[in-house]
Amino acid sequence: MRIQYLGHSAFLVTVASGEKLLFDPSITSNEKARGKIDLQTLHPDYIFLSHAHSDHIADAEEISKKTEAPIIGVWELHTYFQERGCPTYPMNVGGTWRSQKSLLWVKLVPALHSSSFPDGRYGGVAVGFVFSDENHTVYYAGDTALSAEMEILAERYEIDLAFLPIGGTFTMDVEDALEAALLLDVEHVIGMHYDTFPPIQLPDKEKARKDFEEVGITLHLMEIGEEKDFSQILTQKESTPST
Ligand code: NI
Ligand code: MN
Repeated sequence: MRIQYLGHSAFLVTVASGEKLLFDPSITSNEKARGKIDLQTLHPDYIFLSHAHSDHIADAEEISKKTEAPIIGVWELHTYFQERGCPTYPMNVGGTWRSQKSLLWVKLVPALHSSSFPDGRYGGVAVGFVFSDENHTVYYAGDTALSAEMEILAERYEIDLAFLPIGGTFTMDVEDALEAALLLDVEHVIGMHYDTFPPIQLPDKEKARKDFEEVGITLHLMEIGEEKDFSQILTQKESTPST
């Protein structure tokens, strides 16, 4: 599984089959991503949107129209983007999308957050995603508070990696994300939704990494534009005998 960080909460994930999943693309409006990401180089097969806030959907229409990648999300996201001429796939929280090309599936799971479009239109409920290819199961939390729903995810799935918001103010902060990671029983976390604008500035990245390290969890803070192969990192779990 290869993961490229596109800034804020935007990631391009290439799964075992080679299919590319784009999450929450809001790139051109992100000053921190300026000059680091060229939209024209992104060729996702599917675009998953966690909710309708502009810092999660800003480039979805352009990328979807250019690549014909369907926009997948709750009903209200579907109607909004269908009206704009994008291919869409309507769903709602609790539903599971399945790839027709591989064993990949993506489930829409609860998030504790609001959702409205930039023009004030209702955006439906905010969601997170649990997705799995042949090798790994991953949780992409979207924007959310710490919630008891995460315990259920841990009971149902062996989650290898979690994308968690850590910037606070609008979502969990580092402390709550650490608690979430413990609830989820994951060993690897990719931090997101931090540093993009002043209210979500991380005060101390090194301290955040250390806080996670102390409880045996690796917090990955990726550089914008960086692409990393997580296959080796995530399989270490199985090859290491528990003591
Ligand atoms: Ni939001
Ligand atoms: Mn947000």
